[in-house]
Amino acid sequence: MKSCASLLAEHSLPPRHLSVCPVETTRRRVLAVGLIGPGRVGSALLDQLRAAMPRLARDSGLELKLCGVAASKRMWMDCDDAELNGRHGGAQTWRPSDLDAFAAHVAGTDGRHALLIDCSANEDVAARYGQWLAAGMHVVTPNKLAASGPLARWQAIRAACASGARFRYEATVCAGLPVVQTLRDLLDTGDELIAAEGMFSGTLAWLCNRHDGQQPFSALVREAHALGYTEPDPRDDLSGIDVARKLVILAREAGWPLSLEDVTVESLVPPSLAALPREEFMERLDEMDAPMTAKLAQARTESGVLRHVAHLDRHGRATVSLVVLPATHAFAHTRLTDNVVQFSTRRYCDNPLLVQGPGAGPEVTAAGVFADLLRIAESLEARA
Ligand SMILES: NC(=O)c1ccc[n+]([C@@H]2O[C@H](COP(=O)([O-])OP(=O)(O)OC[C@H]3O[C@@H](n4cnc5c(N)ncnc54)[C@H](OP(=O)(O)O)[C@@H]3O)[C@@H](O)[C@H]2O)c1
Repeated sequence: MKSCASLLAEHSLPPRHLSVCPVETTRRRVLAVGLIGPGRVGSALLDQLRAAMPRLARDSGLELKLCGVAASKRMWMDCDDAELNGRHGGAQTWRPSDLDAFAAHVAGTDGRHALLIDCSANEDVAARYGQWLAAGMHVVTPNKLAASGPLARWQAIRAACASGARFRYEATVCAGLPVVQTLRDLLDTGDELIAAEGMFSGTLAWLCNRHDGQQPFSALVREAHALGYTEPDPRDDLSGIDVARKLVILAREAGWPLSLEDVTVESLVPPSLAALPREEFMERLDEMDAPMTAKLAQARTESGVLRHVAHLDRHGRATVSLVVLPATHAFAHTRLTDNVVQFSTRRYCDNPLLVQGPGAGPEVTAAGVFADLLRIAESLEARA
């Protein structure tokens, strides 16, 4: 039998026809999908999935069956009214949320491939990954809580993948940027991680880029808050904990058993402001100005720039802090809310490997989740 490529060559089809080569029936795969958390990222993902479904079915033989969507209080399932519930943004048949019933519905009883996507930031959802994976359901998520949570639970999640189910979480670190996969590829091809360093917070990158002494730091935080660059409570960014979680995820990917408690985190929030109610914190933001002005002055004395940097190395050192970098450093030239990660490895030793670009936002984060789904789908064997 002639291959698709030789048939195309014989008929001199232009390159744009390459993608419509009929998919061999053996490559046809059906993947049942359930989405948990239709918030900013989840909604963007639903749009991306719906737009891509016809192309995936036609070009790759991958049929995605969206079986349901669950939010914190309510959920819809296609068994209630497949046609009605298939519409995004339109009327749907909702019932009270019940994650166990939801997972059972997506798993089905016909031995199909099933995948749950967790786009929440919820601990109760993350706590269920182990049981879902053990039952053979794949899990994909941008939620950092499981991959950076208690080490024993993380190890149990990895062990649950012995069922053959896959767990992917690329978008937990720098959203859609290929950071976890890049590290995975380096390690899988026999390289060794020596150190990873980066700016993992778009908010803090933006604040550092803009903090030039022209305006008080507090005014910049207020502006970032108004632009939606910060979490509702900016202390969630300024404390550095979210960055520390990303460092833990990368360390564990490298096989280093790091926990959040092992990371030395320098919070930008003065202790006097740490425990205040959010509104009071916002009112007293200007108490951050003097220490931040002093740090900027120190950077200028050293002819450097201030950057919020996370560092991890093979000796177990893990830090998150505001540092002064030379003006020639790669991290000194990031733009807007860019994230950047630098891997120093045995192969990439003299000149480290750099991944850089926008590291937040619903669209790019959803695309990172979608890419994880596609990698899992690619590895599936055909089932009914
Ligand atoms: N936004 C970004 O740029 C970005 C970047 C990287 C990673 N992430 C991660 O992506 C995830 C989603 O972020 P987001 O910005 O989309 O958040 P979001 O807009 O707040 O959406 C969160 C969603 O999770 C749902 N949810 C909460 N608790 C739940 C539960 N127990 N069961 C089922 N659903 C539940 C919420 O439902 P209700 O509306 O009913 O509460 C909501 O639909 C988070 O883990 C975040 O850290 C986000």
